[in-house]
Amino acid sequence: MAPKSKKKRPPVIAVDGPAASGKGTIARALAKHFALPFMDTGLLYRAVALNLWRWGGDPGDEFEALRACGELGFDLADPELRSEPVSVIASRISAYPSVRAALLDRQQEFARQPGGAVLDGRDIGTVIAPEAEVKLFVTASPEVRAVRRLKELEQRGMHAHYDDVLADIHARDDRDSTREAAPLRPAADAIVLDTSDLDVDAAIAEAVRLTEERLAKSWRTNRTNLG
Ligand code: DC
Repeated sequence: MAPKSKKKRPPVIAVDGPAASGKGTIARALAKHFALPFMDTGLLYRAVALNLWRWGGDPGDEFEALRACGELGFDLADPELRSEPVSVIASRISAYPSVRAALLDRQQEFARQPGGAVLDGRDIGTVIAPEAEVKLFVTASPEVRAVRRLKELEQRGMHAHYDDVLADIHARDDRDSTREAAPLRPAADAIVLDTSDLDVDAAIAEAVRLTEERLAKSWRTNRTNLG
């Protein structure tokens, strides 16, 4: 049998959480800090949604949504990926088990690459990479997330009302966490990071601290197991 290496393996870091919790910003910052490749898995669901929208397909029809997974070429810089209609369609089609299954391999291949990875989404710690060394579940109150989303929309030159944005956040949370296929929930071994009272820098600093702490623990456990 080949001798087991005691070298530190580049880690997999799973970052899950609801919309506008700060998970994307935190995941990107962790990828930079630990020099790991990064995947925003929400973009895959958004790409399917955008395909479907452009074809005039029905988001209420699972078969049509699955067809929209077929040719998944997409331009990450396409501003339509972040538009409100696409966000709403993405939330709807992500409830379909066949759509989730169609996007699974791509995400798992990314998570299993030898150089480690950071992925952000809703089910990274529970379904895509349950073996991840670090699992963060980033959250914030719906009210704080609504204010953040409103600012984001304003920066993109779009106007919206706080009450509408808050209602949309509640609706999306409800859809994402009550669906049967891979609902949004923290993995049993996830660290919950509430960013409601933290600004961006403080949230990133806390995420880095928690990740380093968890990695040190995981490396200690590996060393003990390897004898
Ligand atoms: O993270 P986001 O807002 O870009 O995600 C868009 C939608 O995709 C969101 O409503 C939930 C869904 N999603 C998912 O179900 N699983 C993931 N791993 C990532 C996103």
